[in-house]
Amino acid sequence: MPDTNARSPGLVERYREAAPALAVSNAVIDSLLQHRSVRAYTQQALPPGTLEALVAAAQSAATSSNLQTWSVVAVQDPARRERLSVLAGNQRHVAEAPLFLAWIADLSRAERRGQQAGQPMEALPYLEAFMLAVIDAALAAQNATAAAESLGLGTVYIGGMRNHPEQVAAELALPHGAMVVFGLCVGYADPAQPAAMVKPRLPQSAVLFHEQYDVSAEPGIIAGYDKTLRAFQQEQSMKPQGWSELITKRLGSAKALSGRDHLRDAVTKLGFPLK
Ligand SMILES: Cc1cc2nc3c(=O)[nH]c(=O)nc-3n(C[C@H](O)[C@H](O)[C@H](O)COP(=O)(O)O)c2cc1C
Repeated sequence: MPDTNARSPGLVERYREAAPALAVSNAVIDSLLQHRSVRAYTQQALPPGTLEALVAAAQSAATSSNLQTWSVVAVQDPARRERLSVLAGNQRHVAEAPLFLAWIADLSRAERRGQQAGQPMEALPYLEAFMLAVIDAALAAQNATAAAESLGLGTVYIGGMRNHPEQVAAELALPHGAMVVFGLCVGYADPAQPAAMVKPRLPQSAVLFHEQYDVSAEPGIIAGYDKTLRAFQQEQSMKPQGWSELITKRLGSAKALSGRDHLRDAVTKLGFPLK
């Protein structure tokens, strides 16, 4: 039963003054609205069975044609987490979180099935097959993330896994046709180094259109969001940087891709020709 006229915890933090009135909410939405990335963890071990619960949640995500073109490598060995943390650009939380999940776009299983059946898998080298695998992996990972947060665990995605995809693939012994698209740190947030609060997102009017895309109101909406984000950063003792500034910095130069400007070559070498 939807809880109507609810004020979800996290809603005002998520949108500040642009918070919509939610006529519908429930415990799942409340939990999603309170998401924040966690980058400092205690060493506390996860309760037994947590990994299996997260993977069950992940496997319950929709998957294109039930092809299930993703896999996950759970890394708990501290030495391997340390090496992955270096490959991710020295991100300490990768070494510190007790569990690191490497989410894999995985066409290798399909490739092996084709070999077994003696069937040339003509569609596998196409960009479409790669996209399908990346989408499947992302949907699965986000289900696991939502499940982890519902259990009181903290998480942070690690796109830094794409800085050196070939070394990451070698570290995890991935077969041809498998690539880590991102990682996920999982653990208990360290109360001594609290994570930033719920980060405000763009107002819904910037991302939600009715019937047709419309940018006419965008400049004013983004200017307002720049202010909101700066206010949030000041509250969190972070360097204030508007969203417009962030996006032009992050996407304004190939250098800001941290080596990922070579990603296409690496993806091809890992077994995805992207025809
Ligand atoms: C695919 C993906 C890759 C990410 N990669 C990193 C990363 O390498 N390191 C990191 O600290 N955060 C990473 N993040 C976390 C984002 O920075 C974070 O989600 C964003 O700033 C919004 O903050 P919030 O998650 O607290 O709401 C990544 C997030 C996503 C979705």
